[in-house]
Amino acid sequence: MKERLDKFISSQTALSRRDAGKAIRDKHVSVNGAPCRAVDTKIDTDADAVTLDGRPLTYRRYVYYMLYKPEGVVSATEDRTEKTVLELLPAAYRRDGIFPAGRLDKDTTGLLILTDDGDYAHRMLSPKKHVEKTYVATLDREPDASITDAFRKGITLSDGAVCKPGQAVCLGGCRAEVTISEGKYHQVKRMFAALGYKVTALERVRIGGLFLDRSLKKGDIRPLTEEEAALVFADPPTDN
Ligand code: URA
Repeated sequence: MKERLDKFISSQTALSRRDAGKAIRDKHVSVNGAPCRAVDTKIDTDADAVTLDGRPLTYRRYVYYMLYKPEGVVSATEDRTEKTVLELLPAAYRRDGIFPAGRLDKDTTGLLILTDDGDYAHRMLSPKKHVEKTYVATLDREPDASITDAFRKGITLSDGAVCKPGQAVCLGGCRAEVTISEGKYHQVKRMFAALGYKVTALERVRIGGLFLDRSLKKGDIRPLTEEEAALVFADPPTDN
């Protein structure tokens, strides 16, 4: 694809178009090894090698990041009082249009995808796609084995909403692993509340076939390849 140099730089970095222009004029940008000071230079996004301060800018139409969301940040692009997940993005990963694909509550931790691909997020969140999400819930007391049946049959929430059948497995102690394919407001907490339990901690560990990367620490972010990002639409691997 042919693109103006200043537009290309602002689309691939956190720089505005104006700041990209300034960086070009101030000789921070090279094209195919030679400094380039003309903001309107047309480059081929697939063939030309562009660097900013020596850092190669590989053209990516969309970006996908895995965040291990910590407690205490909200799944929003901006908020007047709370810290948002976007504020956790390192400067090198910032660019226009990134948002969280889906929501985790402020006190929920775990796998959250940040992207600028609206169609991807829409497909992932569409109820028609039935993308499964797995959570590990810590409860206020040891769950009874009957939660497995209750989740399988479909739980009715206190407001009368009926949840689609899900899966629940007791993990020992006060913990249970649950898998659901919907995204109602506070759904897991409300499902457990309907069964008489309070969720004291909640962590999302899987979306479709994509698992939370256990080498990440809370608050860490890493880029996903397009193949990894696409795993959310795949089934998780089976044990056998
Ligand atoms: N269910 C909840 O109750 N909270 C979340 O953050 C995600 C699922």
